[in-house]
Order: sequence, then structure tokens, then C-alpha cells
Amino acid sequence: MCGIVGYIGSRRAADLLLAGLRALEYRGYDSAGIATVVGGKLQLFKVQGKIAALEAKVDRDDNSNCGIGHTRWATHGKVSLRNAHPIVDYKGQIAVVHNGIVENFLSLRKSLEYKGVSFSTDTDTEIIVNLIAYNLYNGESIERAVKLAIDSIEGYFAFAAITSLNAESIVVSKRGAPLILGIGEGEFFVASDAMALLPFTRRVVYLEDDDIAIISSKGINVWDKTFKAVERDYEVVNWDPVSAEKGSYKHFMQKEIFEQPRAVYDTISGRIDPLDKRTILEVELPKEIDRIQIVACGTSYHAGLVGKFLIENLAGVPTEVDYASEFRYRNPLLSDKSLLIGITQSGETTDTLRAVELARDRGLFTLAVCNVPMSQITRITDETLLTHAGPEIGVASTKAFTTQLVALYLLAIALGESNGYRFPHLIEDLLHLPVLLDSCLRGIDSLDGVSDVIYRSDSALFLGRGINFPIALEGALKLKEITYIHAEGYPAGEMKHGPIALIDEKMPVFGISGVEDQLNKKLKSNLQEVSTRGGKLIIVTPTPEAFSGLEAYLIPVPKSNQYLQPIVNVIPLQMIAYLVGVRLGLDVDQPRNLAKSVTVE
Ligand code: G6P
Repeated sequence: MCGIVGYIGSRRAADLLLAGLRALEYRGYDSAGIATVVGGKLQLFKVQGKIAALEAKVDRDDNSNCGIGHTRWATHGKVSLRNAHPIVDYKGQIAVVHNGIVENFLSLRKSLEYKGVSFSTDTDTEIIVNLIAYNLYNGESIERAVKLAIDSIEGYFAFAAITSLNAESIVVSKRGAPLILGIGEGEFFVASDAMALLPFTRRVVYLEDDDIAIISSKGINVWDKTFKAVERDYEVVNWDPVSAEKGSYKHFMQKEIFEQPRAVYDTISGRIDPLDKRTILEVELPKEIDRIQIVACGTSYHAGLVGKFLIENLAGVPTEVDYASEFRYRNPLLSDKSLLIGITQSGETTDTLRAVELARDRGLFTLAVCNVPMSQITRITDETLLTHAGPEIGVASTKAFTTQLVALYLLAIALGESNGYRFPHLIEDLLHLPVLLDSCLRGIDSLDGVSDVIYRSDSALFLGRGINFPIALEGALKLKEITYIHAEGYPAGEMKHGPIALIDEKMPVFGISGVEDQLNKKLKSNLQEVSTRGGKLIIVTPTPEAFSGLEAYLIPVPKSNQYLQPIVNVIPLQMIAYLVGVRLGLDVDQPRNLAKSVTVE
């Protein structure tokens, strides 16, 4: 959600800033801009739209060696050129790029206006730049001006600023939102995530909340939240930058769908003792856990719903799942033997981070299931179970989801084992899963018939039961994210309590079936009710024979055990959303209004 970059060194800053913004574009793409200092004056290039438009606009003669850049996902202030970052202060001498929300925006704006400071955008970012400016023009040093500014700001933020008063440095600060510094050879970088830095350096500094850093070509000076000068060590990132490129695929989403057998394999690797058929997880959990609370958002929340089934069935531990944004405000009842699991691909979704902090502050043991090593959540939880999906660039999550399900399956088995159970057959099935996914992907290249139906529809319904109900939710989410076609996921048995009123001959209805006979019989009856009312049925199933006699388009998928079947079932649903999106001519990697990681509440 909003990407920030900065560069200072001996190369042309504009080139490096644009390269960094391209890598961060998945975070937001409403508008973009960069700022440098040329001839003692701020020079700004901004566009409404994507980085490609910005590239065309940037002055080829701008040879400045220091600058900042931004790709925006609008929060305060509608999408417009005026509200695009960098935002400058009331005297036009400081430029700021910002990610996050200033919650006390109105009161701060009023008090600045009272002091004679004028505003020309609708953004909360202008508060930050004007606060810094006001302090600086009143004689404070730049670091002190920033300190006074952040002390008066409520909310979460990460920002970078440059000033024409000193063209040789960048000042940054963060609270709750990600901001990373990169150390190159005689050059320094600022970015919202490590991926943008990988082409340039692997040495990164993770700032603490309320740190202020000044970066110049001589080095990095950091002040902590008490305004004491401190040293922050660098860490070395070992992600492979090549895996963040599209290669021969047309879209990242397509590439990431096809990477799932590999991603799943990597997530299993090293976590199974093949002889003993037991898990060997690297995380150490408390001995006594009386219940589990899962918090997550979006697709990760759907993984959590599957996780509940897995944990309750395999480990016998009562488990609740909440949207992180709801959990935070519902005064949850937690015992001190509860385990809190935060599931997040990015590790930086604000609601999930705050929910984890809430649990941690109540003394709970916390575990992150996360795809991004060293991300924010891994820094605040007691333990982390990493998924090894590799960088996921497509905004709609695919391989991150299936690897989350694998991680939760491993975790549920491990918890069961610690309660004295053994699951050798489930372990064998897991070891076979990458092959199964591979054959599923090879078998579903003939989905054009389904995409034909969906592409003409205004709406679609996804029905599932038991552990496949979350897959119905995920199928619906994928379709609406990528194609903008309205879609709803429902427990199949609930359809008769409302959604059935929507069924007519124009309505495609997906049935997602598992492997259990009893549930399949029930699902078949529910789907029969759809068929009777003229709805067009599409059934994803490992057991096509269970649905014989129904007038339906069948999508047969390879069969696994009941706990792994959701991972197989979701693959054709991801693929259908992708195919329909492409067919509609939409930007499947960067759907409108969405962002890959949401760092505002
Ligand atoms: C955004 C993304 C979704 C993602 C959700 C949670 O909405 O567009 O794809 O599922 O955030 O993200 P997280 O990184 O916490 O899993």
C-alpha cells in the first residue's frame, strides 16, 4: 500500500528511483512521482496513473544523484495529480513521500493553518511535510524538525523527505509501516520492501518504530524514539531477484499459479522426517495450548478458515478465526494458554500486525505464518513458520495461499503429534502433493468453456461445504478481484436461506466438492436445487461420479485426502479468474483499487 523509494549516491537518481518504483508498483498504482534537487530547487515529476507514464515524463537531463519517489494507493484525497506524491511544503523547499495514515489529520491541519501555514492538497501527507517545514523554518535542525513532527502525529506512517536547503541527504522515519534502508557500494537506498532493493544490494537495515534516519553519501545516522543516536546493524537478504521476474509468462498471476507445485514443495522441504513420517518444524510452541486464535485478512483469512478445520480435526484444539480488523475491536476472550496465529503473506498488513500486538500485550504466545522473511510480523511474534512461496507480485494471492494451507497442515499435524497422535498417511499424502498439483495444472488448460460462461455473467455464486467452504469464499474473492464480476461464496447448505433467490438461467454457480461421500451427497442435493431453477452449474470435484445425473460442467481434479483437497480444488478457481480477467482485457496483475499489502486500517 503505497511504495516509497529513495536514492543517494553517484548514479543518476531518476533511473534508480524509477527502477525501485517498478518493483513496488504492486503496492499501489493510482499515481506516481519522483522529486530530486536540481540547481538548488526541488524538481518534481508526477503523473496520475502508472509508473510507465511517469517514465515518459521524467526529464532525461535530470542528473541529480539524490531523490525520492512514490507509487500511490489513495487514502486521504482522491486520485489526482494534485494529490500525487511527492508532496511539497508551503514554501516549496521540502518534498515528502509517505505511506500510512495521519489519524489526527484534521486537528493538526487546523493548528497549522492557525499559524499561517497554507495547504494545497487534500492529503494527510501535507500535514507531515508542513509540520517538518514549520519546525525547520523556526530554526530546528532537520532531525529535530522531524522528531517534533512525528511526536505530534497519531497513526502509522513511513516517509522519506528531501529538501532543497540540503541537496545531499534524505531523511526518513517510520511507525508501524515498513521502511528499509539499503547499503550499496558508496550509495544508499530507501524502499518500502526489500524486493525493490534486490537488484542493487542485499545489505538492508530494518528501522525500528519512531526511528529517524538521515542518509547521506557518507553514511546513515539514526536516532531512536527517545532521540538518542543509535547504530542499526544491517542484515543480508537472501531472496532470489530472478524469481520476482515474469520470465516467459504473460502475467505474474499466471506465473505464480504455475509455480505452485514448486512453492508447495519448498514449503514442505526439510519439515518432514521421511523415514519416521513425522513433522520436524523449526518453531517451538508452548507445551500447553488450550485454544488457538487465528487472525488474518483477505485471502490469508480464508487460509485461516481451512486452518481451523485442520487444527481442530488433527490436533483437537478448539480454534477460532477472526478478520484481524474485527478481532481488534471485539474484546476477545483469550486465556493465557491461548496461542495466537497471525497469517499474512506480506507480513505487513496493518490490521494483522495490530491484532498480533494486542494478543502479545495480553501475554499470549504468538506465531506468524508468513511468506516474507524478516518482515514486520516476524519481528513482533515469538515464532515464525515461513511459507516458501517466494516473491508474490500479482496482487491477487495464489501461491501464497496454497503454501499457507500447507504450512497450516504441517502445523496441525505437529500439534497433533505433540498430543500423542501419529499421521503417517497424511504425511505421505503431503509428500505427494506437489506431483498432484502439477498434474492438476496440466489437466486444466481446457477451461475455456467455463470462462466463456463466466465472462458474459454479471454475477456468480460459489458453494462448498466443510473444509471446502473457505475455498468457495476464495474462488469468489479471486473472481471479483480479477474480473470485477460480482461473486459470493456461501456454505452450500445455507444457499436456501437467501442466495437461492438470485438463481436464474443467467447465474453460474460453482460447486466445490471434497472427497467425503456424505458431504458430497448433501452438496449434490444443494446443486440440484440450483439446477432445478435454471442456474448453470460448474462443479470442481475429485469425485465426478458423485455428481452423475446433474446437468453440469464438470472440472475433474486429482484426488487427495480430505485435508489436502482444498489445495487442489482452488487451482482451477484461480485459473478461471485469471482467464476471464485476461479475456475481459483487464490488468490481472494490478486490478483496480487493490493493493498487495494494506498498511492502513
Ligand atoms: C490485500 C491483498 C490480498 C491479501 C490481503 C492480506 O488485500 O490484495 O491479496 O490477501 O491484502 O494480505 P496479507 O499480506 O496480510 O496476506
